[in-house]
Amino acid sequence: MPEPVVDPAGVAGHTVLIAGATSTAGVAVAAALAGAGAQVLAVGSDAERLERVIEVAPDASVYVCDLADYAQVTALAATLHAEHGPIDGLVHLVGGWRGGGGLDGQTDTDWDFLHERVVQTLRNTTRAFNADLLASFTGRLAIVSSVSVDAPTPGGANYASAKAAAETWTRAVGHGFAKSGDTAAAVIFAVRSLDGLEPRLAAEVVALWDAPAAALNNTRRILTP
Ligand SMILES: NC(=O)c1ccc[n+]([C@@H]2O[C@H](COP(=O)([O-])OP(=O)(O)OC[C@H]3O[C@@H](n4cnc5c(N)ncnc54)[C@H](OP(=O)(O)O)[C@@H]3O)[C@@H](O)[C@H]2O)c1
Repeated sequence: MPEPVVDPAGVAGHTVLIAGATSTAGVAVAAALAGAGAQVLAVGSDAERLERVIEVAPDASVYVCDLADYAQVTALAATLHAEHGPIDGLVHLVGGWRGGGGLDGQTDTDWDFLHERVVQTLRNTTRAFNADLLASFTGRLAIVSSVSVDAPTPGGANYASAKAAAETWTRAVGHGFAKSGDTAAAVIFAVRSLDGLEPRLAAEVVALWDAPAAALNNTRRILTP
């Protein structure tokens, strides 16, 4: 058995893409990664909001991209490869909530919104960057899901179903990582609410580079206050 690979430098020197980087959580993750010495690539749909990332991580590179559009994501990947080379980490944070009103309230409009944000952007980014994560000697994928997947309610059925799909997709990516050797890991964080947990999430993301992939891959970690 080969020795598990852990870079003694942790995330320092690695290139990490944050997909959906302008929320409080995104900014916290960007600041923590940059503080730990990573090259941060931050993506959002709005240039002005991306300035929030630059305020906490001045050396970060920011990119505007509609991550729900696969053609835009593949163009983004080409740009990032030209400017920074392959990435070592993908932190997927695009989310959003729609729901309420019991089962009758689970509208198609809300489902389309959740599918686009929660599932489509994850499918697009993981497909576009899977080869990078496999080629890196410490590839990492992280998503933030919800504990509502474990205890779905009628009023949150659309949301919990979209999150369950995202978790399943992530485990499929992780299965591919495992089959390709023990260098890459896919990790699901699950929270009830991120409010106040953003620094904890940021620290957990940085720590993904402190443990061997085999110990992390396809784990689901519930973060509680
Ligand atoms: N907030 C919570 O309490 C909570 C609870 C459970 C799970 N989660 C999960 O935790 C993760 C982070 O949560 P969050 O509240 O920080 O997420 P969020 O605000 O819903 O999304 C993160 C960022 O994604 C960007 N974004 C949205 N659509 C995009 C698109 N098409 N292309 C590119 N960027 C796009 C948004 O920035 P721009 O609009 O500036 O582009 C936004 O700042 C999400 O997966 C969420 O579902 C959150």
